[in-house]
Amino acid sequence: MNLLRRKRVTDLQAEALTDHSLKRALGALNLTMLGIGAIIGTGIFVLTGTVAAQNAGPAVVLSFVLAGIASVFAALCYSEFASLVPMAGSAYTYGYATLGEFFAWVIGWDLILEYALGAVTVAIGWSGYVVSFLADLGIRIPPELSAAAGSRLIELSPGQWQVATQTLLDGLRASGVNPASLPQTTALFNLPAVLIVAVVTTLLVIGIKESATVNNAIVFVKVGVVLLFIAGAIWAVKAANWTPFIPENNGVRGQYGWSGVMTGAGIVFFAYIGFDAVTTAAQESKNPQKDMPIGIIGSLLICTVLYILVSAIATGVVPYRELDVPDPIAVAADRAGMGWMASLIKLGAIAGLSSVILVNLLAQSRIFWTMSRDGLLPQFVNRIHPRFRTPWITTIITGIGVAFFAAIFTVREAGSLVSIGTLLAFVIVSSGILVLRIREPNLPRPFKTPAVWFVAPMGALSALALMVSLPWRTWERLLLWMVIGFVIYFSYGVRKSKLAQAAEAAGAA
Ligand code: ALA
Repeated sequence: MNLLRRKRVTDLQAEALTDHSLKRALGALNLTMLGIGAIIGTGIFVLTGTVAAQNAGPAVVLSFVLAGIASVFAALCYSEFASLVPMAGSAYTYGYATLGEFFAWVIGWDLILEYALGAVTVAIGWSGYVVSFLADLGIRIPPELSAAAGSRLIELSPGQWQVATQTLLDGLRASGVNPASLPQTTALFNLPAVLIVAVVTTLLVIGIKESATVNNAIVFVKVGVVLLFIAGAIWAVKAANWTPFIPENNGVRGQYGWSGVMTGAGIVFFAYIGFDAVTTAAQESKNPQKDMPIGIIGSLLICTVLYILVSAIATGVVPYRELDVPDPIAVAADRAGMGWMASLIKLGAIAGLSSVILVNLLAQSRIFWTMSRDGLLPQFVNRIHPRFRTPWITTIITGIGVAFFAAIFTVREAGSLVSIGTLLAFVIVSSGILVLRIREPNLPRPFKTPAVWFVAPMGALSALALMVSLPWRTWERLLLWMVIGFVIYFSYGVRKSKLAQAAEAAGAA
């Protein structure tokens, strides 16, 4: 049993060139838009406020800078791989070519946390925004059908139901409201989350070009809303709100001071997740060697600049302690005299979250498809739709799985694992790029990671540092997930993989 058997890079390149099963419809602009589609979402619209209020103060800007730098290192490594091995399996395939089959499986299994669980998390967030947006318009979704199964809900104002967390109940009591005096109910399941996943899955089955067009429209709306906020609120910034820029640590690790900035970086890292999803569209790209690096790095840089501006303006307009709300950007817009923007910002967030779901489901279905082609997952899922030329079986299976968990999970349960899963993939990709430089130094590399002996180790170390800043509970869950993955690999993939079967056939001959 050779767990470290590898796919040859030259074989993969030949496969990428000759395999036309997926439709090559995307250019550099579409890929960059896919990246922005996957990146801007809950992170900037929600986490900015929580991190400013609880961890970093105005220095949430530095948290965004640090998480952005870690992402840029990883993006440069992803770009070299994606132009060298432009396959839909992304990091999973890069792992197969560098570290061997067992590590490839580990990455593939780990990426489920990033993409499928990411889609679950964002679908739940989407549901919260849509229910609140519809309530503003006077349309009421029954609270029983709008949250995780078993969640206790409480009605704060007519039509505005929220999950009755301990913090919320304590806050109500502190402001003199007896929670027992407010209407309460228990949720059955999250219907809007299921519906958005169903719609996006259908779109992805119908076609890559159609999906990219819808994504472009959504990106246009969400970036428009972000730019409108920047242009409108920058005039209301008061420098006094930025002093002290890094509030003094209050004695607890992670609460203000530099440790707060670091913890904040670990949390806002979520906002950057998604640029790597571009790589899973490599086999649907017209000219991946040239366009993959543009899509990955271009989308990341655009979003980094937007994030730094938005977080600086939000904390410059509103004192950071007042930003601990579910809609901090809307609060900042309101304070800047743009109250009329509140609904528009909700719309931007809804648009933003829709495209994050779209690109995550796209990425997950391509990775499952590639894994099944390699024999690590059952063959029946390895089909391309004859007319739409999409991996429709893996798309539908991913959609059903994501919808199921989005119906019953809470955001907190789903979200905690997404960042750590992504960071682990970054560590492996950044290390893998060095392994390949040593093992196969002479491969023609259309994009070379600049200063690779600095960038790649920094990519791995900064991702590790962000992983360390996450709670131990999250690590435990990651380890449990990996153990489940090992059991599946050793009871299925290790025997069924195409490489294993080829070796067996060669041995028998
Ligand atoms: N980056 C994505 C978001 O912030 C996952 O929603």
